[in-house]
Amino acid sequence: MSIIFKRHSVRRFTDEKVSDELINNLLRAGMQAPSACNAQPWEFIVVSKDEDKLAISKMHRFAGPAAKASHLIITLGNLNESKVHGMIEQDLGACNENILLQATHEGLGAVWLGFHPIEDRTFKLKEYLEIPDYCIPFSVICVGYPAHESEVKSRYDESKVHFDRF
Ligand SMILES: Cc1cc2nc3c(=O)[nH]c(=O)nc-3n(C[C@H](O)[C@H](O)[C@H](O)COP(=O)(O)O)c2cc1C
Repeated sequence: MSIIFKRHSVRRFTDEKVSDELINNLLRAGMQAPSACNAQPWEFIVVSKDEDKLAISKMHRFAGPAAKASHLIITLGNLNESKVHGMIEQDLGACNENILLQATHEGLGAVWLGFHPIEDRTFKLKEYLEIPDYCIPFSVICVGYPAHESEVKSRYDESKVHFDRF
């Protein structure tokens, strides 16, 4: 089975720090994603300071895992780089999933924290990280070494599949 079937969200991390080299591998994977017209409309902020991770963990009630992660990768959509109106979210979604899959491949744990399009969340992130107006704060990906094992169950559901017509 491919790495896709091993990926799962990890929300608790050990104290071990992830190396710069591995973080760079995750960024490379993110930037390898498909995007409309190959616009690659992404930017990244890598956060590793404890005080910043703590502040971000308090930005919404499901953001707790950020506090104890080794690093946070903030993914941003650069509106100046996007070439097809309305597709930047899809580009960033592909980018985010690539990062999660690469994390699994490297033996790391990761979880995607949703920010965009909930304005209350994106406003806080934008202010705190001094993100310019032409960038959408898309998500926060928490990265670290997993503090727990998780069994991944198949989600294949035959009833969702339609052949030739709905
Ligand atoms: C758009 C999006 C937003 C998410 N937001 C959060 C979040 O704020 N906090 C969190 O702990 N998990 C978040 N997740 C992770 C999901 O809860 C998780 O992917 C889902 O429960 C399936 O579990 P799995 O990732 O282990 O397969 C988010 C995932 C996506 C794709």
